[in-house]
Amino acid sequence: MKKHISTIVFLIFVSIFFSCDKKEKIKTNIIPLPQEMNVFEGKFIINKTTKFLYDNNEDLKQLALFFNEKLEKAAGFKLITAQSSEDDNNCIILQLGNCPAMLGNEGYTFFVTDDNIKISANKPAGIFYGLQTLQQLLPSEIESSRLVNGIEWGVPLVSITDKPRFVWRGMLLDCCRHFMDKEFIKRYIDLLAYHKMNRFHWHLTEDQGWRIEIKQFPELTKKSAWRTEKDGTVYGGFYTQDDIKEIVAYAKSRFIEVVPEIEMPGHSLAALAAYPELSCTGGPFEVGNEWGVFKDIYCAGNEKSFEFLEKVLDEVFQLFPFEYIHIGGDEAPKYRWKNCKKCQKRIADNGLKDEHELQSYFISRMEKYINDHGKRIIGWDEILEGGLAPSATVQSWRGFKGAMAAAKQGHDAIVSPTSHAYFDYSVETTDLKKVYYFEPVPSGLKPELEIHILGGECNMWTERAPQEEIDNRMFPRILAMSEVLWTFKDKSNFFDFHERVQNHYNNLDFLGVKYGFEGKTVTLISDFDSLLKSFNVKLIPGQNDFDIYYTLDGTEPTNKSESYIKPLKITESLELKILAQKQNSDLKKYINQKYSIHKATGITVKLKYPFSPNYTGNNDNALTDGLRGTTNFRDGKWQGFNGVDLVADIDMGKIESYSRIKAGFLQSMLSWIFIPKEIIIYASYDGKDFHKLGSLITNTDPHLEDKFIETFTVEFDKTSSRYIRLIAKSLGPNPEWHEAAGANSWLFADEIIVE
Ligand code: ACM
Ligand code: ZN
Repeated sequence: MKKHISTIVFLIFVSIFFSCDKKEKIKTNIIPLPQEMNVFEGKFIINKTTKFLYDNNEDLKQLALFFNEKLEKAAGFKLITAQSSEDDNNCIILQLGNCPAMLGNEGYTFFVTDDNIKISANKPAGIFYGLQTLQQLLPSEIESSRLVNGIEWGVPLVSITDKPRFVWRGMLLDCCRHFMDKEFIKRYIDLLAYHKMNRFHWHLTEDQGWRIEIKQFPELTKKSAWRTEKDGTVYGGFYTQDDIKEIVAYAKSRFIEVVPEIEMPGHSLAALAAYPELSCTGGPFEVGNEWGVFKDIYCAGNEKSFEFLEKVLDEVFQLFPFEYIHIGGDEAPKYRWKNCKKCQKRIADNGLKDEHELQSYFISRMEKYINDHGKRIIGWDEILEGGLAPSATVQSWRGFKGAMAAAKQGHDAIVSPTSHAYFDYSVETTDLKKVYYFEPVPSGLKPELEIHILGGECNMWTERAPQEEIDNRMFPRILAMSEVLWTFKDKSNFFDFHERVQNHYNNLDFLGVKYGFEGKTVTLISDFDSLLKSFNVKLIPGQNDFDIYYTLDGTEPTNKSESYIKPLKITESLELKILAQKQNSDLKKYINQKYSIHKATGITVKLKYPFSPNYTGNNDNALTDGLRGTTNFRDGKWQGFNGVDLVADIDMGKIESYSRIKAGFLQSMLSWIFIPKEIIIYASYDGKDFHKLGSLITNTDPHLEDKFIETFTVEFDKTSSRYIRLIAKSLGPNPEWHEAAGANSWLFADEIIVE
């Protein structure tokens, strides 16, 4: 009997084992994940005899054509269309209507059996998303733009019921800081559609370039579209009205609405360069050739500003059929308005309290004009300041507060906080996982107000990203964004998503997407052994499919350099140079870490004034941890001091002899970080009475814009003491000529070296 039971247990085990094994094999790989999906054993094969079956309907005809074009490129054949009354064997059936109302305008059902594929939806958008799902279920080669032979075009047997969580699933592309050509934009529209995103937020006007042809104001494209860079070269471009119509139609056929952004009252320097009479001062101005926020904006006291913008909008209305127009509203400094007679008169005449209410007046007035033309406005969350225009939708970017405030006032909101949705930020700051954990509904929002959260966007600002860099900022993070915005929260599972991303890379390869990293490429763990005076360095790859190479002799690593297999021992000051290379890919990243082994490495430092909690150097004793910083002040190696001197006491633990002290500092003027004015060294036997050993005046020019590191050496006669004090004198407040004159400057230090 006992033997019999154990045989049964064994058989159950075997059957579970094999059924698990089968499940493994029929994993699907759809991003964003459908809401309900069952996968069964088997496949439906699309071949030359497979037919498209649908009712005589123009939308369905276009959708079938869309799929056929793809299939023909990759597979070399297309499906012929049959009338729906015919035999439905070996068919892809497209059905409009006949679908539960709860699936809305974008939902669909999708069934694959041995006999056929059936996609049903209430509206053409749903059929389109069903076809995107079909594409993602086919072999990756379906995305090839060239014929691929020898592929079995199999689709796993599935049943799917799907619809989006949010109605607004967008991407902002800034085509002003860098200009993106028309074909590139179409390609992004395809990529958005492939991931079931439905809004393209097109940032078209900026300080550094005006990109939309307005026939009534030809100077906007003659002058405002071009900037003279610091090196004298001219950079720019614009979209003709024909280009725009073409792109809008292209997007429409992929169920993407284009939202133009025409910035006001700020970010308008390029327009003012052509029409300086619209400013408070009258100019003259040049199109911006630096990044940042500029104080010259449209004059709110001048009727001409409104007339200009209304005429611009008249043409915008004709080009963009979607009901929403984004009017910007962000980052409009009030300095000019404060000092402008016309603006002050407007404030007085309208009984406004201040310049914030003047901004509200500006936006509300433009909103009325836009509403009168049957359109609605969206503005960045600054439009909440001074009172929200009556029916505005708020795009929350400075965290979630804007979305919360808008919803509480009964307004709609689109959520794209810098913390999760700014894809111009590095993947070290905002990695794939962080984006995946983005929750657009602000925490604490009453459930009955959630309806006001339309959805979200990922924002691609392009100050530091010309066209060829966009892919590696957008991908793979946009995959996470598409899933956040499409898939219901209870289906969210990073582990499962991450696995699908790994397979999705094949699709992206066929689509020619030059995706970047998922996050930090390599984490260095550098442990200092005080007894052996050496570092034990572990390199932890951020992704499993990385090969890591390194050098210790200062040469640039290549894939012929030493492979990292085990922790490294570093016994002298040197620079470790690392190459992380994704397997079977061109994707690589170089990382450098300078080590400094000296008499004070690993010793405790006492600071008179604390470092900023934002720039801790990742270590209370960062100034003697032997790890040097890079010119990226956020690299975790720098301690930042705001508005105070650096006063550091080092207790060597015993009497030590030494004859020079070095210290490393950073300058990054545009980030308010300056080299200290002076460095003074003291010594003490008891930690109480200090005597001066030496000092130096740094003489570094604070105007220098480039980021750089300087290591200063204070030399003196060989001396012995237990305690050493270093004082580095801060530059004080930002100098008068600085953009942020008067505010506390920063002092950044990475290491104090005792030799
Ligand atoms: C913004 O990032 N200034 C909306
Ligand atoms: Zn003014």
